[in-house]
Amino acid sequence: MTEGTEDGMDAYGVLDAVTAYQRSAVIATAVRVDVFGAIGEAAMTASAVARVCGTAEAPTRTLLDALADMSLLARDGSGTAPTYRRRGAAAQLARGGALSDLAAKEDYLAGQWQRLDETVRTGAPTIPSWRRRLEDDPASSRTFLRALVTLARMIGADLTGIAELGAGRAVVDAGGGLGSYAVPLADHGAHVRLVELPQVAAWCRDELAARADIEVVAADMLTVPALGVAPGSADTVLMSHLLHDLDDADVRTVLAGARDALRPGGAVVVLEIPGDAPAPLGAMFDLMMQIETPGRARRAGEVAELLREAGFDRVRDGGVAAPNLVLVGERG
Ligand SMILES: C[S@@+](CC[C@H](N)C(=O)[O-])C[C@H]1O[C@@H](n2cnc3c(N)ncnc32)[C@H](O)[C@@H]1O
Repeated sequence: MTEGTEDGMDAYGVLDAVTAYQRSAVIATAVRVDVFGAIGEAAMTASAVARVCGTAEAPTRTLLDALADMSLLARDGSGTAPTYRRRGAAAQLARGGALSDLAAKEDYLAGQWQRLDETVRTGAPTIPSWRRRLEDDPASSRTFLRALVTLARMIGADLTGIAELGAGRAVVDAGGGLGSYAVPLADHGAHVRLVELPQVAAWCRDELAARADIEVVAADMLTVPALGVAPGSADTVLMSHLLHDLDDADVRTVLAGARDALRPGGAVVVLEIPGDAPAPLGAMFDLMMQIETPGRARRAGEVAELLREAGFDRVRDGGVAAPNLVLVGERG
């Protein structure tokens, strides 16, 4: 989908685009003050919501009206004291709900998008490195990773149909986050070892405590051999949404680690949203990666070339639906 008319975006399109931030700010604010948690299962007046949230009554009422206009609340009754009920996905936006993590992640990123001009001018990300974020703001980093799990469940690729990740395979999930893909693959019968930086590995052990079938390995894959597992011990290495965080030199390092982790004939499976994903996602996602990381959303052909350069043969498309891209390469 491209925006605008046949003659390009008209003035009304520009007006829509430059005011689009208002809708995200309304949801972000409601999540920050936990409007959806305050309302809970009951219908409430604006003054009751303001009391529970500790907010000013007049703007809270208007915020609730805006949420009702966006179909996240229902407004019942007219006059001076209408009540508001949650609608649609609103309950998941209450504190602790899956969509509240997603909203918090995007709220953080929205602030950084305001500085996109800095990245465009300098070519450098404005967001501190992931390691720095883990140290300086562990709570929001964990929320960020939880949001990735939610995204994987909502719009992630179904990897269970890829033979190399199937039942009985010894899969190393390199940079697996909090189990976005390790969980569905283990559910499907794969033997998964999830490799993560030590701080994330600790959270992962906590969140996956009930999953005896997923082993968590704490390692910095850029500094240890064979991604931190025994050389030749993996049938398959999965790299999901990892390469776009890394510059080319670090991509080469982790791909070399993957080769060493794999048995001869094993495979690497790379999942990415490529820079040439259908519009408008591809370019927007690439900008996001450049704001956020030293990496970028590479085009499908660029990822394939990096795999070949790293010694993977018969690189093929794994056949998942766009905007996701899966490439599979065999260890020669
Ligand atoms: C964008 S997240 C993707 C998480 C998950 N694979 C997914 O698809 O949702 C990238 C993950 O790679 C991990 N990571 C990045 N560099 C790493 C390194 N050098 N060693 C181990 N893990 C790393 C990060 O901690 C983060 O959880």
